[in-house]
Amino acid sequence: MVRLNKKLDPTQTGQDAEKLSVDLHKRIVGQDQAIDQIVNVYQMYLAGMNSPGRPVGNFLFLGPTGSGKTRLVEATAESLVGDARAMIKIDCAEFQHSHEIAKLIGSPPGYLGHRETHPLLSQEVLNQYDTEKIKLSFVLFDEIEKASDALWNLLLGILDKATLTLGDNRRVDFSHALIFMTSNLGASEMGSILRPNLGFATSEIEARHRAGQLDEATTDKVSRAGVEAARRKFTPEFMNRIDKVVVFKPLGQTELKKILGLELGILQTRIFNSSMTTPFVFSVTESAKDYLLREGTDMKYGARHLKRAIDRELVHPMSNLIATQQVRGGDLVKVDFDEEDNHLTFAKEAEDMPAYAMMQMAEATANSQPGIMTANAVAEPPRVAARQRRTPAA
Ligand SMILES: Nc1ncnc2c1ncn2[C@@H]1O[C@H](COP(=O)(O)OP(=O)(O)OP(=O)(O)O)[C@@H](O)[C@H]1O
Ligand SMILES: [Mg+2]
Repeated sequence: MVRLNKKLDPTQTGQDAEKLSVDLHKRIVGQDQAIDQIVNVYQMYLAGMNSPGRPVGNFLFLGPTGSGKTRLVEATAESLVGDARAMIKIDCAEFQHSHEIAKLIGSPPGYLGHRETHPLLSQEVLNQYDTEKIKLSFVLFDEIEKASDALWNLLLGILDKATLTLGDNRRVDFSHALIFMTSNLGASEMGSILRPNLGFATSEIEARHRAGQLDEATTDKVSRAGVEAARRKFTPEFMNRIDKVVVFKPLGQTELKKILGLELGILQTRIFNSSMTTPFVFSVTESAKDYLLREGTDMKYGARHLKRAIDRELVHPMSNLIATQQVRGGDLVKVDFDEEDNHLTFAKEAEDMPAYAMMQMAEATANSQPGIMTANAVAEPPRVAARQRRTPAA
């Protein structure tokens, strides 16, 4: 034995947890605390330190609509098993009656249609995205405040013992699952702190929130309002089974601006991955981005409002341009803002662009946005290049 007095650093994370953290920060804006909690739990799982006989982690996500709660679960699945579809999402409001609960757990043998029902929460479904290295599932119970008593009881069993008994008495093991529950409870209390004089002149707090410059005291107050609302509604029995209650911050303009960048990158990737023979690239001027941001800013609906604005102002017109063949593969489309008419304009700036030039442009769009999908953009070149080879540009 060698006696030592070597100082250790427990704040360091392992490489795998670090990768998860980097991936999540690239995809999720302004919710660092939520990301940290997931990374911590994942690190515990990797080190074999999480409690046996319980799910890997039980998270309760609170906070306003469009603040990234669902997106964070998708992004975690994307990062860990390479597919956002690995997330099993249960909309609690849809499972009110016993025949609806049967969709989740199947019906007992002997019931009409027993053989035809494939329970949504079977072991096969849970394990379907397992890889050699990672055996994890991601189960999201959305809007849990709307769960019926029967669903609530199922949920308590999963949270506590990591097991669920199906209609035919088979057991499903959730000890390799991350359980996420979301609720908008407390969102209105949080909103009234941020928008105290609704309908009247903009308060100072609201102005700071818009600008993304909320002070720490107000952020804490908003978080506490969320947690208190949850404590009032949910039983202590339930709250005690949660490992982490995370309150998502309402997003301000600074965050929405970053999300706009992310979404433009995601749209470009979607165009590259679409079934068109050759993809095209687009560039969006600063004034066009400002317009999208103005149209897409609504403090109440967070990024949902922004996404609707992007769909309406950018995606729909672009789809028309593609459908009418005004835009074709290999084109460079410039999106600008017409101040006089107050709308976006689309112009073809080049055509027959070689694949490498398109890739460079797409990456530049991606990299000019803070935290944007570089991972996706960079991962795509081979497919683009392959398509381009099949239909060489003139
Ligand atoms: N913090 C964020 N970072 C990056 N993108 C975000 C963020 N918040 C929202 N978005 C974008 O907005 C979309 C809607 O957000 P999301 O579905 O995560 O909302 P939510 O918080 O689950 O809201 P709800 O309570 O209505 O379900 C996401 O798919 C994503 O594109
Ligand atoms: Mg959601």
